[in-house]
Amino acid sequence: MIRVFKSIPEWIGFRNSATLEGKRLGFVPTMGALHAGHAALVERSHSENEATLVSIFVNPTQFNDPRDLEKYPRTLEADLDLLERAGADCVLYPEYRELYPDGYRYRVQEGELSRLLCGAHRPGHFDGVLTVVLKLLNIARAARAYFGEKDFQQLLLVKEMAEAFFLPTEIVPCKTVRQEDGLALSSRNARLNPGQRAQAAEFARLLGSGLPASEIRSRLEALGFAVDYVEERFGRRFGAVKLGEVRLIDNVEI
Ligand code: PAF
Repeated sequence: MIRVFKSIPEWIGFRNSATLEGKRLGFVPTMGALHAGHAALVERSHSENEATLVSIFVNPTQFNDPRDLEKYPRTLEADLDLLERAGADCVLYPEYRELYPDGYRYRVQEGELSRLLCGAHRPGHFDGVLTVVLKLLNIARAARAYFGEKDFQQLLLVKEMAEAFFLPTEIVPCKTVRQEDGLALSSRNARLNPGQRAQAAEFARLLGSGLPASEIRSRLEALGFAVDYVEERFGRRFGAVKLGEVRLIDNVEI
């Protein structure tokens, strides 16, 4: 039976108890609205560790657009079912005031990579991500933490932060999980209407094509996508687009 902790001190008490003492813990941080991509992270953690903790927290400090935060899907009951099936042992489901007792006066700021790609279009986004991930890693005290490659820029930043601050947790990258038509799984896909959902597959297809980035951008725009960027960096091609109010990101190896 999965154990749900709403209070951080209660989780820390359990983390220090005989049940978890000396056990190798895997950790999967999430914002809920879970799908098969999250299940793959949890299954991997379950197979590589003696216990797995998942956090569910829709982190307001990483949303630069208040409407996006308000519309972010919240599906706690379904999330707990998926986590139970994927092999999670514990869920941390904290409230803002417990996770941010300082009201976000203290924050992590990275000065280079966080300003590129998504950072250039979402001011402050990565400050919020890095701050909450640092808090969660300190609270979880896990041997390993699992992050999907769909958010590749986030993964790189978290990995670098863990090195910069000598965090004892190993950051483990995990492959992007895709639907049959190539669309990367994302909690935001649930907000696409059927027409937009069909169109979204073109984003994945064009990003994975051998066309130059400028040509991909033109074709996406011709199809009706609002394109934030299509850029090649770190041996990968990154893209971010909007369909209506829904922002999608993806990246592929080149
Ligand atoms: O990738 C996400 O879901 C979030 O950015 C994370 C890592 C849980 C931090 O809020």
